[in-house]
Amino acid sequence: MEPEIKKAITELGLEHVSFDAPLAGLTTFGLGGPAEVLAEPDSPEELTRLMHFIRAQDIPWFILGGGSNLLVRDGGVPGVVIRLGHGFAEIKIAVQEDHIALEAGAAAPTAQIVSLCRREGYAGLEFLAGIPGWIGGAVAMNAGTHEGQILDRVIRITCLNRDAELESTLRKDLVADYRSLELPEGTIILGVEFRLEQAAPEAVEAKVKDNLARRSATQPKGVKSAGCIFKNPAGDYAGRLIDEAGLKGKSAGRAWVSEDHANFIVHRGKATAEQVLRLIERVRQTILDKYNVELETEIRVVGVDREEAAE
Ligand code: EPU
Repeated sequence: MEPEIKKAITELGLEHVSFDAPLAGLTTFGLGGPAEVLAEPDSPEELTRLMHFIRAQDIPWFILGGGSNLLVRDGGVPGVVIRLGHGFAEIKIAVQEDHIALEAGAAAPTAQIVSLCRREGYAGLEFLAGIPGWIGGAVAMNAGTHEGQILDRVIRITCLNRDAELESTLRKDLVADYRSLELPEGTIILGVEFRLEQAAPEAVEAKVKDNLARRSATQPKGVKSAGCIFKNPAGDYAGRLIDEAGLKGKSAGRAWVSEDHANFIVHRGKATAEQVLRLIERVRQTILDKYNVELETEIRVVGVDREEAAE
């Protein structure tokens, strides 16, 4: 990126801008290279200014949320990585006649929403317990478990569209599927409104605890990961297939397929994104050869590898 473009970005008046900014610490995987530019707008006005500039200059960009479902390649991310600031993390409650409307900014952590629901007895999002990340990302990928998916509780979402205009869309006008939400290219989710029910706090608490206990019993702890690597194929489970294929514990460099849950690739801090990608490919190929099932990744992979970054 030309120095004058970088200078112009610093002059946009954003809350925070940095260059060659490490991203590993902003993801749960804890891997990968830096962002050429990391921009953290704190209001829709700042974000709009940034998007107008990015589009006018034709700069590549992507939105980083809570970083829980993401693998950054070792050469880092060219262009601008946008991370919504605290101004996008507000949570508001409106008690309606027949439901509780919970409005959350895209940067609100899912854990914070779950703990609020648990305290106040708002029922409907208990399945989110233990899912890391931010609410914008959770909605963008229609996060969920066997107990439910987030889009089932959404009333509307507010986005910045391709032309950098604010737009509100009702759930009925959104096309969602298992772990996916179709949005026009370049759309940025800024906020979400949920429809919840008032219940006894103890009832919500019991469900949340149950979900956390199930997770803790079946998923890896004390290691770094990005959650489930693959989507479940129709009618089966990626974890079950990978386990049955005997891939648990198989490794590439310092990354390995978790012994606790076969759909997790984990490491203790010293792996590289390249090793993780190599292992993903090995698992995918083995499952294809053995079962003729094409596994699709659930995690998003961004950036360039080391060689490409050095060019
Ligand atoms: N299984 C195995 N071996 C394993 C792992 C799983 O045989 O190593 C079997 C289990 O015994 C079970 C089936 O596979 O019969 C499904 O396993 P599990 O109940 O753990 O659910 P999952 O489908 O693997 C989904 C979500 C998880 C979420 C859990 C919680 C997907 C891809 N994953 O996992 O989400 O935490 O349900 O119910 O839909 C994530 O999205 O990042 C994630 C971790």
